[in-house]
Amino acid sequence: MGKNIVLCGFMGSGKSTVGKALAKLTGREYVDMDIYIEKQQNKTIKDIFAESGEDYFRDLEHKASIELSKKSDLIISAGGGTLLYKRNIAALSETGIIVLLDVSLSNIRYRLRNDKKRPLLQRPDKNKVMAELYKIRLPKYKAAAQVTIKAQKPPVKVAKDIIKTLDLECKKK
Ligand code: S3P
Repeated sequence: MGKNIVLCGFMGSGKSTVGKALAKLTGREYVDMDIYIEKQQNKTIKDIFAESGEDYFRDLEHKASIELSKKSDLIISAGGGTLLYKRNIAALSETGIIVLLDVSLSNIRYRLRNDKKRPLLQRPDKNKVMAELYKIRLPKYKAAAQVTIKAQKPPVKVAKDIIKTLDLECKKK
């Protein structure tokens, strides 16, 4: 039984694309926490925020963290807010290794320039909010993660860097 690999990082840092690439290379099961919650609730994250508010979403995220921490060998892409909370760090790091995908703010801004899906960014002062959140969040991500990977590269390259750094087993060809 291997530890879960939990990808952490800002919105747009590539947690989902890298996670899928990593799952493919290692043959492990992939879970996107946002999609896991959306399936359980049968609603989009955007609708959950709009109908029930952020605190309610954070409780769902914590429930998902606990459920996923009971499993093993998963590649999990966490939400951008998941690893800001001690209760989620505690649950997910019990059975997993937290890996931070480190991407610069300017790159994140470029990647999210047309985003319509993330509730925290649907506002006219989106660039200012992103800068503020980034400044507050980055040190927290760094404190939560056991490993930090430079992630301003193609997703498969980032996935291979994670495999090398953590010495993960790859799927036989
Ligand atoms: C959030 C990030 C989102 C999603 C929700 C809140 C955040 O996930 O969980 O919109 O607080 O940063 P992604 O990082 O996958 O966009």
